[in-house]
Amino acid sequence: MRILTGIQASGKLHIGNYFGAMKPMIELQEKAELFTFIANYHSLTTSKDANLLRELTFDAAIDYLSLGIDPEKTTFWVQSDAPQVLELYWILSKFTPMGLLERAHSYKDKVAKGIGANHALFSYPVLMAADILLLDTQKVPVGKDQIQHVEITRDIATKFNNEYGEIFTLPEYVVNEEVATIPGIDGQKMSKSYKNAIDIFIETEKKLQKRCNKIISSSTPLGEPLEYKECNIYNIASLFLDEDRKLELQQRYKSGQEGYGHFKKYLKELIWEEFAEAREKREMYMANPNLVKDILSDGANKIRKIADEKMKIVRDAVGIL
Ligand code: ADP
Ligand code: TRP
Repeated sequence: MRILTGIQASGKLHIGNYFGAMKPMIELQEKAELFTFIANYHSLTTSKDANLLRELTFDAAIDYLSLGIDPEKTTFWVQSDAPQVLELYWILSKFTPMGLLERAHSYKDKVAKGIGANHALFSYPVLMAADILLLDTQKVPVGKDQIQHVEITRDIATKFNNEYGEIFTLPEYVVNEEVATIPGIDGQKMSKSYKNAIDIFIETEKKLQKRCNKIISSSTPLGEPLEYKECNIYNIASLFLDEDRKLELQQRYKSGQEGYGHFKKYLKELIWEEFAEAREKREMYMANPNLVKDILSDGANKIRKIADEKMKIVRDAVGIL
């Protein structure tokens, strides 16, 4: 089973990325042939600063390795180190009706949020299709917001295959229903672009507490029972808790003896504790950047080989000499 997942390097990793994409993925590497890359060409669609993009790409690689990507088990690389994907992107563009992209939610959402429309943002799903199809990916673990992109990939692959035979494998998306969409501090989907994220590797415990304190909660006065179901603090905290501990926390809400301030403090402790080991590993990788470069370079070598073989077939099919 070949599984592919990509992450954008457009900002620091947050808890939504972790529970929505990374944690399930890290668990998968025990069971399947996992391919993971930093999607820096995709990040370019919204990047304004070259140094920042470079930095974020490398930081994301370090973060991934720290959080549990094991290069012995998983092929890990940076998207732009296997540029064959751009050739495939162009070829696939011919099999992509405009209407298919015009219907893409993620594009429409980004434009609605004030991100300037440009062609790269518009054709983003075609590049994602190229990532997926280049490697004959069978499964793509994604957050709910990315399902449509995998569907678009299937549409494009089907159109291509109808014309040239069974060249591309049709991928399937896998969504971890339990985690669904992780809310941010304002209760909307947590996202770098919405500035409502809690970063995994926030520098200090104090800063993390400050961030938790910003979570919007209702204004029930201290001393009254609190509703946990709609509470952003509870919803984020529950990600870190097993069933018993969730019930415990629900009891604390119902008891009326604690206020939101207490739960924000508790949430800070949960987050800080969960990532303690990853923080240590991260220090180690930051002190040894060449180790990270070697891992990425090994990954890219492997991908370039696979990509060259696939592109031979694709070029041949469409008549590119
Ligand atoms: P962002 O929205 O912050 O820009 P990305 O688009 O880089 O995040 O998302 C990277 C991965 O993390 C994707 O698989 C995406 O579905 C997942 N993800 C991001 N935010 C969330 C969230 N709030 N809940 C669940 N999964 C998420
Ligand atoms: N669009 C994905 C995201 O924002 C990142 C991505 C790019 C990706 N190419 C991919 C994910 C291929 C899976 C497979 O999260």
